[in-house]
Amino acid sequence: MTVYRIPDLIAHKRDGLEHSPEALEQLIFGYVAGDIPDYQIAAWLMAVYLKGMTAPETAALTMAMAKSGDFLDLSSLPNTVDKHSTGGVGDKTSLVLAPMLAALGLTVAKMSGRGLAHTGGTIDKLEAIPGWNPVLGDEAFLKQAREIGMALVGQSKNLAPADGLLYALRDVTATVDNIPLIASSIMSKKLASGAKTIVLDVKVGGGAFMKTLEQGRLLARAMVEIGQHSSRNVRALLTDMDTPLGHMAGNALEVQEAIATLRGDGPKDLLELCLELAKEALLAHGFSVADAQTRPLEVIQSGAALEKFAAFVAAQGGDPSYVYHPEKLNVAQNTLEITALHSGFLERIDALAVGQAVLVLGGGRERKNEAIDHSVGVEVIKKISESVTAGEPLARIYHNHKGLEAAKTLLKHAFTLSSEKVNAPTLILDRVY
Ligand code: URA
Repeated sequence: MTVYRIPDLIAHKRDGLEHSPEALEQLIFGYVAGDIPDYQIAAWLMAVYLKGMTAPETAALTMAMAKSGDFLDLSSLPNTVDKHSTGGVGDKTSLVLAPMLAALGLTVAKMSGRGLAHTGGTIDKLEAIPGWNPVLGDEAFLKQAREIGMALVGQSKNLAPADGLLYALRDVTATVDNIPLIASSIMSKKLASGAKTIVLDVKVGGGAFMKTLEQGRLLARAMVEIGQHSSRNVRALLTDMDTPLGHMAGNALEVQEAIATLRGDGPKDLLELCLELAKEALLAHGFSVADAQTRPLEVIQSGAALEKFAAFVAAQGGDPSYVYHPEKLNVAQNTLEITALHSGFLERIDALAVGQAVLVLGGGRERKNEAIDHSVGVEVIKKISESVTAGEPLARIYHNHKGLEAAKTLLKHAFTLSSEKVNAPTLILDRVY
């Protein structure tokens, strides 16, 4: 085995050359073991930032990061699929998609995150259902996934610890917004999570990490290529996140909206996104194009997806009566409306401001492990392109007094009206596979 000197590896990348998989393993494993100091990795990260990485090199970095911790072994489960969204506002897609996929015969067995800053997390949303528990032992997790086709737990394993360390260093060395580094960060956790196929929802726009379609395409391409080099079938959709998804942002409100969607009564954009992601998952598992196009809607119309959700909630200790009566969920009783100052057509909703409003109301956390209020949130009443009359409500705040003034200020500036007609935005911007 060649033993590399770290200054040589830094120089190699500084000069724009390609690393071997062995060199990347030594770098990553040495860093995680504490044998390589931050300042050398920081210099190397900047060299990567400036000189880039080839696709095989990015895949090798990703695999080294994945191998730095535990792997979930899902090999005993049929048709495993994982889904990842790069994060957005009102993004309750996983709550709808996972039971749809389970009802279609696929297995969704995954670890999900909690919300941080203006974006929500699936585990926080599910905890709005009384009794639902994000902790399952390994055996119970696999058994539930086998029996129901769906098990979602919090981050209990040490998946890709190299990513946590590298991310913290990138954050303070101006090396976050780099495609190979973002792609390897996301995909190292996905590879360690063990699913055979991975469906990615790469969000693009003001409320997302990737601000332009071009950036989003590059990131999606990099992640799909990592899959190709790692024997995983990865398919990506690029989707609009200039405006919040659906109408609701905030944990209990989003669960209600997800359940409405599973009942066939949800907002058009959320349903469209779930149908398209389900289609990609089915195509990745070898279903015919005709089946992939029609079967996802069938499991909503038949009630099969809703039943799967209820079974999943019950299996993890939740009270399934909330799935059939979501109006019982605890939603803040105090409401306040933000109204239009003049008439026009709704041209823009600032997704970031809506996410920040939920955060200041107490529905999200600024620091890890902070307690949150699941009952608060924001309802976006009008969607882009709709006509609005002066005095009509644009948004409704559900609050428990905390942060109300700040939320009002954020939302008053979040809506832009135009005197001209406006087209509704396109949700699915592109596909990469
Ligand atoms: N999300 C991640 O997990 N990693 C990044 O680098 C950026 C977004």
